[in-house]
Amino acid sequence: MASNIKKVDNVRVDALNTFAKEFGDEATCCVCAPGRVNLIGEHTDYNEGFVLPMALPLVTVIAGKPNGTNKCVIISTNESITTVSKIEFDVSNRESIKPGEPKWANYMKGCMVNFPVPIPGFNAVVVSSVPMGSGLSSSAALEVATYTFLEALTGTEAKDPRDKALACQKAEHDFANVPCGIMDQFISVMGKEDHALLIDCRDLSVTHVPMDQFHDHVFLITNSNSPHKLSTSAYRERRDACFEAAQKLGKKSLRDVTLDEVETLKQQGAPQIMLKRVTHVINENARTLAATSAFQSGDYTKVGQLMNESHDSLRDNYNVSSPELDALVNAARKVQGVRGSRLTGAGFGGCTITFVLKTAVDEVIKSINESYSGKASFYIATPSGGARKLDCKR
Ligand code: GLA
Repeated sequence: MASNIKKVDNVRVDALNTFAKEFGDEATCCVCAPGRVNLIGEHTDYNEGFVLPMALPLVTVIAGKPNGTNKCVIISTNESITTVSKIEFDVSNRESIKPGEPKWANYMKGCMVNFPVPIPGFNAVVVSSVPMGSGLSSSAALEVATYTFLEALTGTEAKDPRDKALACQKAEHDFANVPCGIMDQFISVMGKEDHALLIDCRDLSVTHVPMDQFHDHVFLITNSNSPHKLSTSAYRERRDACFEAAQKLGKKSLRDVTLDEVETLKQQGAPQIMLKRVTHVINENARTLAATSAFQSGDYTKVGQLMNESHDSLRDNYNVSSPELDALVNAARKVQGVRGSRLTGAGFGGCTITFVLKTAVDEVIKSINESYSGKASFYIATPSGGARKLDCKR
């Protein structure tokens, strides 16, 4: 059966207990931010297109307390490798905060630098149940948790949740050197229980799409456990090809480009690979809107078909799948009761998401375990809430 996700409350208590053990004190501030799974709309966000992610019950928790100095002392524990890593730096002089080692701290540093008001010195502990490098946005969860922690610590909250998400995205650009779009930070800030979030990445408007109506279906996440090297260079290359194609057509982004204009690009002598990238983005935007309508009207066959088309295009046109992800998707699709299955996130490894009848979940897991050469792990994904404050009582 799919593994039970560790309850948010257990992660919270772990963080509070670790804080008490490491600092000999009780935390006065505790927050969490979720990882995400994207249902459809891949590699569309940086093209001002549409995405449809949902927040997961997998979270990053930060527990802490002001320490009356200019310094912050942060301890991160990572259960899967049972290591504790500690960092200490001056928060009173923002200009002195630079990226470096350990890498995990860069996401936090970037958020501190972008925070709008002075930050007091503090002690903190970070604990996460979001698996790292699996394409479920462990980095966005850490950024958004950090920003939410700073809000709680200073009492200064972002007036518009979008500003908060954009500050976190900037942290990833500037401090982790990953040119990501806005999807991961938006959903980690704005996720809502029982809902997915349709984001229009051009005007930044969001629509919460109800996901509690199909009790006989579930979303099954399968982790290939072949870490996605968000091979930053391959991601950047694709992003640049999209920007270049839009520019060749005199458009601000691929959002404004139609399939007919792919023909124009061809006549201008654009390379075949660029035509494939553009075709993916145009069709993926249409699929995302169609899937949203299909969820709303209860047409789950259609949802599945669109998810399958999305994967096939990511594999054949965008070239971001991997043998492991294809194997997982193929094994899932063989099972009766599976509506659709696709890779989720940037690709190059990481996870798949399968929309399946509840009664067929065990069969999917069996089919994957029998044919997959690696060791897969499974989670049932329930649409969960976005970043929030948590109780400090242990
Ligand atoms: C990563 C990025 C997102 C998005 C996806 C692909 O998760 O962080 O902004 O571009 O890849 O859809």
